[in-house]
Amino acid sequence: MKFFVDTAEIDQIAELNDLGMVDGVTTNPSLILKSGRDILEVTKEICDLVDGPVSAEVVATEADKMIAEGRHLAEVAPNIAVKLPLTWNGLKACKVLTGEGKMVNVTLCFSANQALLAAKAGATFISPFIGRLDDINLDGMDLIADIRQIYDNYGFETEILAASIRSVNHVLDSARIGADVITAPPAVIKKLAEHPLTDKGLEMFLADWAKTGQKIL
Ligand code: G3P
Repeated sequence: MKFFVDTAEIDQIAELNDLGMVDGVTTNPSLILKSGRDILEVTKEICDLVDGPVSAEVVATEADKMIAEGRHLAEVAPNIAVKLPLTWNGLKACKVLTGEGKMVNVTLCFSANQALLAAKAGATFISPFIGRLDDINLDGMDLIADIRQIYDNYGFETEILAASIRSVNHVLDSARIGADVITAPPAVIKKLAEHPLTDKGLEMFLADWAKTGQKIL
């Protein structure tokens, strides 16, 4: 499973990237706002840092304008994945941009039928939003499972990029179901390392070590 980090904060991306935890990055207009940075500048910095796909989202809603914005974003670096919303116009733009050889991440996917359309339009990635479905008392994981089954039934190569991940259980369940990629905030990725028994065990080992009176260095 590939790990993308869902942020435009350079320091946080760099910390995880140094550990080999970053296979790609996803951004969106809200994350650009949060960073306080210029979209083209910060996207370029991220692309220079990370080898894998870096998603940068268009904000136009008409197909022609989406295509123009997508082409402009793709000029930032070869590893840009143009992020397009799952609207009819977004699908039109997806078809054109993937036809030009650009990577496309179709975002704001909330149904398996939407994911089917994105695959048929040639999307490189489909981003089903788990947390936002959970927020309205639906089960985001059911959507990941449905898309996995449908893509496998027909051999679609579009990668399932589980997004809107809010918890370590979202990561675990996505891995169990077989999502190709998860994108998560840095805090969720770091939380994967935590376990109370690890903390408790370490505390006991250190207490016993102190009683030996020894030093390693
Ligand atoms: O990857 C999509 C993500 O940025 C949305 O997450 O938590 O705002 O639903 P959230």
